[in-house]
Amino acid sequence: MKLHCFLFAVSCLFTEHVIAQLERNAQSAIDTMQQRYNSSTGLWRGVENPLWWESANILTTITKFGIHDPYFRPTAVQIVQNTFDKSRNAPKEIGGYTNWKNKFTDDMGWWSLAWIASYDLTADPKYLSAAIDLFNDMQMDTTTKCDGLIKWQKGEGYITAISNELFLSIAAHLANRVSGDQKALYRARAEKQWQDFNKPNRFINGEKLINDAIHATDCTNNRDTTWTYNQGVILGGLAELARATQKTQYTDRANEIAVSTLTRLSPGGILTEPVQNLDQQGAQFKGAFVRGLAALNAQVPNPRYASFLKTNADAAWNRGRKGELIGSRWQGDGNFVHTTSHASGIDVLVAAAQANPNA
Ligand SMILES: *[C@@H]1O[C@H](CO)[C@@H](O)[C@H](O)[C@H]1NC(C)=O
Repeated sequence: MKLHCFLFAVSCLFTEHVIAQLERNAQSAIDTMQQRYNSSTGLWRGVENPLWWESANILTTITKFGIHDPYFRPTAVQIVQNTFDKSRNAPKEIGGYTNWKNKFTDDMGWWSLAWIASYDLTADPKYLSAAIDLFNDMQMDTTTKCDGLIKWQKGEGYITAISNELFLSIAAHLANRVSGDQKALYRARAEKQWQDFNKPNRFINGEKLINDAIHATDCTNNRDTTWTYNQGVILGGLAELARATQKTQYTDRANEIAVSTLTRLSPGGILTEPVQNLDQQGAQFKGAFVRGLAALNAQVPNPRYASFLKTNADAAWNRGRKGELIGSRWQGDGNFVHTTSHASGIDVLVAAAQANPNA
């Protein structure tokens, strides 16, 4: 008994007194990010204007860290509350949108996921209502002849992977957060979306990577860029769908896409866009991939993913920083260093902390 207590005490000491480096770095990177937060708009500052869909991503990341780290939680709750109150009607210079709605289905999808994450953090149903409202609006005037997959923009033809992945992910997340008939409806909607998304020669190519879009004419893969966020949102969506259905086929397919990304889009083990010079938007994408990988890892833990995230977090922190900000390439030679590149950097620190407790 004494020996047991002694060992137990030692392990308690270890977890309580060794301050986890990843968490300390994530906290510090978020402090830097908050210097770029405008509390009167609820949005983070970009190169010229306030950031819109990127702000939804930043909020999601902050929320995930608030769920992970009890010391950060109260700060995360405050940021969520203020952003909810102030950002719903966007400033005129970036579109003057109301209730986070605009013509872009992906923009609305990012905000919807941010409010789902906010619900997870706070259990306040107002966030879930906002997420559902946006999910419904994503389908307004956007369904296509490709089995009802959705368009990138209301009134135009382009059918992007990102919009359809976000749509699937939201439906699957909602299925796990409502009950009864509603649960069954969202689960069925998510399963149908996956069935249509996953058809041969649609979004997923022979290398098990997701291209940017399909042709509106014949619903076939357009072979456009395999951005990392296209590989990432689907991972979180399929992890939620596996949880909602108890079917492992979804995470099996997610694992194929994840492993292909770790192989084909990660030279030297570092996650890298297939395009060299990233702009403000492109610099945000890697964050969505690592967030999706952490969600998949939470559903089906895999030491390879945990190790990949740790390696990339260390690279972003040790090599990717220019001054206080993490740049657009975690290898350290990135030429875009601003709010969105830093946001992706926070994502990898948080994702690595989730996958490697106490590292
Ligand atoms: C915050 O946003 C408001 C409204 O757009 C603007 O007037 C103000 O200058 C911004 N503050 C900072 C510090 O950028």
